[in-house]
Amino acid sequence: MGNRKIPAEIEQVLLDETAIQARVRQLGARISADYAEIDDLVLVGVLKGAFIFLSDLARSLTIPHEVDFIALSSYNKGVVSTGAVRLIMDTRSSVTGRNVLIVEDILDTGYTLDYLIRIFQARNPASLRTCVFVSKPDRHQVEVPIDYLGFEVPDEWLVGYGLDYADRFRTLPYIGVLKQEVYE
Ligand code: IMP
Ligand code: MG
Repeated sequence: MGNRKIPAEIEQVLLDETAIQARVRQLGARISADYAEIDDLVLVGVLKGAFIFLSDLARSLTIPHEVDFIALSSYNKGVVSTGAVRLIMDTRSSVTGRNVLIVEDILDTGYTLDYLIRIFQARNPASLRTCVFVSKPDRHQVEVPIDYLGFEVPDEWLVGYGLDYADRFRTLPYIGVLKQEVYE
């Protein structure tokens, strides 16, 4: 935005701030309509990546909702996911009997969301849905249901709008493709 410089590690901007914000507003409107009759919606953001998307999405909702977080580690080594997921921090509130919407930044292999759906389902929520900002269909290893999706994206390493590489670039307002030479 404005005259902020794009970091040299970024190959290209895939989704700019305008496109992102427009899509978040659409998702917020759909979710607000779908949950219009519901008064105990809990948004569960997956840390760290989802905190930016969740903050924009939550503020675009016109219905009452609570915001909570969960933190996971997926034993990532650089950019390669091992598939093993570990719970690091649980939600503050109980989700039993409540309407849970899991909010994720990205669906890559699907292992993370698959794990989350299992643990939340076991807690007997009134309903359980998923909202994912970007999905890489070519990378999916397990089939997981996405109820609300921002964008489908190509199989490249993306940064910005919550997505990081080694904890960098998370707060860029756009989503960019990281140059391969940075992680190879
Ligand atoms: P999963 O492979 O679907 O379980 O995703 C595991 C995690 O890998 C995601 O929650 C992200 O934190 C991370 N991830 C996957 N692809 C990317 C990417 O392109 N950029 C940044 N993080 C990613
Ligand atoms: Mg994540």
